Amino acid sequence: MPRRVLVTSALPYANGSIHLGHLLEFLQTDVYVRARRLAGEDVVFMWADDAHGTPIQVRAQQEGIAPEELVARAYDEHVRDFRDFQIGYDVFHTTHAPEVERHVRAIYRAMEARGDIETRSVQQFYCDRDAMFLPDRFVRGTCPKCGAADQYGDACEDCGTTYAPTDLVEAACALCGAKPRIATSEHVFVKLGNYEAFLRKALAPPDEGGVVQMQDAVRNYVLGWIEGGLRDWDISRDPPYFGFEIPGHPGKFFYVWFDAPVGYIGATEKWCAEHGRDFARYWKDTTGETEIVHVIGKDIVYFHCLFWPAMLHAGGYTLPRKIQVHGWLTVNGEKMSKSRGTFILARTYLEHLPPDALRYYFAAKTTGGQDDIDLHLEDFVLRVNADLVKKAANLASRSVKFVESRLGGTLAALPRDTADLVVRARERLAQAPDHYRRFDSARAVRSAMEVAEDFNLYITQQAPWKTIQRDPEHARAVCSAGVYATQVVAAILKPVIPAWAEKVERMLRLPEPLDFSNAATPLEAGHRIGAYEVLAAPISSAAVAAVVEASKDSLSSAGGESEGAGSEAYEVEPLAETIDIDAFGKVDLRVARVVRAERVEGASKLLRLFLDVGPLGTRTVLSGIAKSYAPEALEGRKVVLVANLAPRTMRFGTSEGMILAVGPDAKRLTLVEVGEKARPGDRVT
Ligand code: MSP
Ligand code: ZN
Repeated sequence: MPRRVLVTSALPYANGSIHLGHLLEFLQTDVYVRARRLAGEDVVFMWADDAHGTPIQVRAQQEGIAPEELVARAYDEHVRDFRDFQIGYDVFHTTHAPEVERHVRAIYRAMEARGDIETRSVQQFYCDRDAMFLPDRFVRGTCPKCGAADQYGDACEDCGTTYAPTDLVEAACALCGAKPRIATSEHVFVKLGNYEAFLRKALAPPDEGGVVQMQDAVRNYVLGWIEGGLRDWDISRDPPYFGFEIPGHPGKFFYVWFDAPVGYIGATEKWCAEHGRDFARYWKDTTGETEIVHVIGKDIVYFHCLFWPAMLHAGGYTLPRKIQVHGWLTVNGEKMSKSRGTFILARTYLEHLPPDALRYYFAAKTTGGQDDIDLHLEDFVLRVNADLVKKAANLASRSVKFVESRLGGTLAALPRDTADLVVRARERLAQAPDHYRRFDSARAVRSAMEVAEDFNLYITQQAPWKTIQRDPEHARAVCSAGVYATQVVAAILKPVIPAWAEKVERMLRLPEPLDFSNAATPLEAGHRIGAYEVLAAPISSAAVAAVVEASKDSLSSAGGESEGAGSEAYEVEPLAETIDIDAFGKVDLRVARVVRAERVEGASKLLRLFLDVGPLGTRTVLSGIAKSYAPEALEGRKVVLVANLAPRTMRFGTSEGMILAVGPDAKRLTLVEVGEKARPGDRVT
């Protein structure tokens, strides 16, 4: 067993709120850490906010504040969310910290000394209006492959093709809509190919001497990437950029992903300084006694499994022993969606529901693989109520509460006929640490429920509420078995729902906090238990519906995505260029009636509208409103048509004009409609 374990969750971006997708990861990390601690290991959870990058810079600029201020605000909000979800990290630091900068420089200098750094010029889109180079996701345009409109500069969400931003048809700056130009800039690269031999060796399967372990499926595609050839890594960005300047390259900043994982090291250094622990034992370990475990989502494998080990190797830091990759959170079987109200923020959830319910549900679904995990909202209510309330809390209520209220609160020895049940409960308890170590909390949770089921059945058969009259000692013994099971269940579930275990410790007046070993021993006959406390109340579908409803509104604070940020992160629409009245007068707006609308095959965002424009005849318009309207809902509506727009031919046909709509993105558009009196063909002024 390693002497020291250091665990991390990925560092959330500081420009957005924590949502349930993040929590799927952060909670499983917390459960893992708590479980290994309960098993008696020395485990620390080192964590931070990811403070740098273009989206944070841009967002701060839009709000008219310094990036530091934006980051500080997010920090406080994140810490509150984590506290209220009972995430037991040891430190939550930030990547915008001197410790991080020091280690980033050390790694960079080491790479330089190895001859891994190279500079060369790069051509990239530049927006004159925003005076900045545009990262891929800050460019939008029409997909060169399928013609879908309004796609990011790196990949098409409709057809899945990946491309360079310069491949987009009619590329535009995502911030201001202007047409960007191509400009040249010097960039700093890491020659990742220099690490090929090292990476092949370090990432090999354990039986071939690899040191960095990961799930087989993950290792296979990581090795596949190496096989396909390691391309140089561009680690510099131009200002305006919130980040650290690159030594020797004034005016160039480290790309956020170069310093982000160094946040793990910076957090550790800060924590060690504050707790009198030896930093070198964690990150400069030469004894093999330190085990570093990173928990990450499947979208950031490349960074953690290729770049990061290379950086650590260059700088002479301890390599991770394990990289644990989880899948995506879906809600009701679909990607979380703001329009459906399933993009749920941590805070919104907490306003309506208890943290234990989600902690339990996620743990019950986490098996240690990379499959996506579905939060099915109906199933969530049923499962939590069936397991936590009807099985586990009910067990406590029928035994603890019964002994306390009807039998003077004193326990008896366990009845002989429970010997088999006790053996089974002990086995399940003994296996729990291993389940948790494999990130298979589902298995651990299931075994806790089996203990509860076994003893609930026993109590039902023995019916102490009936026997108490003629044989109170029989009732006491039966309920003492229930008390024992309550204790075992609480211990198995303690990493998942620590607050529950603490209540059980209090109400049973346990001599010491529950862990995986002491829970095996029953309380002695004659032990006095304390007052019963309610362990869990049923959750309601109404509360869940309220969360969904509230999530339809909590849009503006969400975000926190990468350079790859979604458009949601940029709600503020800057004013367009001024035009004179003549220019405006050239736009001919007319009332049009939708005769019929249909979907466009191969373009999920487009609808084909057949419009009646009165004396002007009919028009066919391709409109990007398919994510907001069903075609059937449009017939008969009177909308506003830009009637003198030059026809545009797309892959799906020709569009003869555009219709007006309002909304922040393609999924939340509302058509501009005109009233009763308007007739098709009328001029809109
Ligand atoms: N800042 C980077 C990580 C740097 S680590 C040195 C980042 N941040 S993030 O906020 O976008 O995501 C943090 C973690 O949450 C990532 O591991 C990511 O995979 C995970 N998740 C974000 N949304 C998720 C879901 N919808 N479902 C599951 N996990 C998700 O990436
Ligand atoms: Zn711009």
